[in-house]
Amino acid sequence: MNTTIYQIYPRSFYDSNGDGIGDLQGIIQKLDYIKSLGFETIWISPFYASPQADFGYDVADYYSIAPEYGTMQDAEKLINEVHHRQMKIVFDMVMNHTSDQHHWFLESKQNKTNTKADWYIWRDKPNNWKSIVGPKAWHYCETRKQYYFASFLPFQPDLNYRNPAVKKAMFDVCRFWLQKGVDGFRLDIFNCIYKDKDFKNNPFSILHAFPSEDYPGGNFQIRKYSVNQDENFEFAQELRQVVDAFQPPRLLIGEVFGKHDLKKKYLGNNNGLHLIFLFEMLFYKFKPSFFQKKIMEFNQHYAAPFMPTTVFSNHDQFRSIRRIGNSLEKAKILATLQFTLRGVPTVYAGEEIGMTNGTISIKNGKDPITKPYSWVPQFIANLLPVAINRDNCRTPMQWNTHKNAGFSTANETWLPVNKDIENRNVEQQVNNETSLLHVFKRLIKLRNENEILSNGSIELVKTNHQQILAFTRTLHNEQLMVLLNFSKVNISNQLNVPIKAVLFSIKGKSIFNGVLEGYDAVILKI
Ligand code: NOJ
Repeated sequence: MNTTIYQIYPRSFYDSNGDGIGDLQGIIQKLDYIKSLGFETIWISPFYASPQADFGYDVADYYSIAPEYGTMQDAEKLINEVHHRQMKIVFDMVMNHTSDQHHWFLESKQNKTNTKADWYIWRDKPNNWKSIVGPKAWHYCETRKQYYFASFLPFQPDLNYRNPAVKKAMFDVCRFWLQKGVDGFRLDIFNCIYKDKDFKNNPFSILHAFPSEDYPGGNFQIRKYSVNQDENFEFAQELRQVVDAFQPPRLLIGEVFGKHDLKKKYLGNNNGLHLIFLFEMLFYKFKPSFFQKKIMEFNQHYAAPFMPTTVFSNHDQFRSIRRIGNSLEKAKILATLQFTLRGVPTVYAGEEIGMTNGTISIKNGKDPITKPYSWVPQFIANLLPVAINRDNCRTPMQWNTHKNAGFSTANETWLPVNKDIENRNVEQQVNNETSLLHVFKRLIKLRNENEILSNGSIELVKTNHQQILAFTRTLHNEQLMVLLNFSKVNISNQLNVPIKAVLFSIKGKSIFNGVLEGYDAVILKI
């Protein structure tokens, strides 16, 4: 499975009706823009009916659309308009939990005998399992006089997939959208779906005090019994069967965490999820050695028929451009990597113009996960590698230099627009051939025209300088070499292979004489 993905956080993309909140009509109006960049697939964060306590990741009705985003007709139109432009659309499917306002939960919490009594995870006494964000996972319900379990926030109760009726209900939701033509699903915290049936306590671990990239949560425990249960991997295959009943083929891409061996189990024997997000690139070090290591690791774990993913930013973490001091020059190197490495590139809206993070304090955060962390001093929050106020990566898209960066005509937008819109807006970059946006465009075009960049194998090439990253891509009897200069100075890197053509250079060079300019990268046909 191979594609290029553009992620939209609908609340922040484009507001068509001036209420300060992005919406589906807004996305429809910008489809030509996405098409002009060259992306094949659009993934949209949830816009189903929801109290928006976690901005859509708390679904109250999977069969209707939140009014601030539009109507069912808008959703259908969006699907059709995407297809009309020969693109694909992937919805976000939040299966692990619902909103506590979903009618399933409202009924379930009434007593122990109602028809939905067993649809969520209820216990008389909590065990020691912790939530991913903030310590408490078990929450007492006065009406039912029991505790319910929530992997994420208290208002997101986990469904009980050991009840076949729940599984059927959720598969029916998927079928409903697949029938409407949706091309697949991004699966929210898919590693949490099943929990140990005996509710065994998780082991204590001093080493797991803090959240880490392959281990969100922390809280001094190994989440041995509350995530990544064997039943999850089987569930991935059952879901695959659900989507495989539809033509043309659909895509399943999972949000899962853990070591590669574990994550890979979600892919099954190529009969589970098609792809999983590999979040380690969100925390990259801007050094060839970091990427050399990742290339080897991904080759080892995701050899064909599997495919890795290349993700530098999303709606949950700091925009990773902050790791390179918000440099547009370095961002061009990352873009080149993203579209030349073996793996499905997933670009978070705004990344193509080098949007930076907002400066919204924890105190003013709208993001519900800030609450448990309200005691953390702001300067510490700014230093943390993981975001505890996700508002800052969710600020409105910067379209131009007009009011609200062209995102909305409202007097107030749901989150404030960033200050640095001068050079980081779509209009300015579309009109500037040397912009980051143009680098993205040229790269995606090249990738669309050369199958070798999607499906070719990848091999590291030794270089004579530690600031140069070099690798080849090979397919059938064709070969490309990619060379990237991670430093600002020119570096000589003579090749002992004949060069047939220069397909791309960030700086627009059409010949390669063995010297790579500072922050230039080239794609050579050899
Ligand atoms: C992961 C999503 O990406 C995040 O935005 C959301 O808050 C949680 N899952 C809970 O659904």
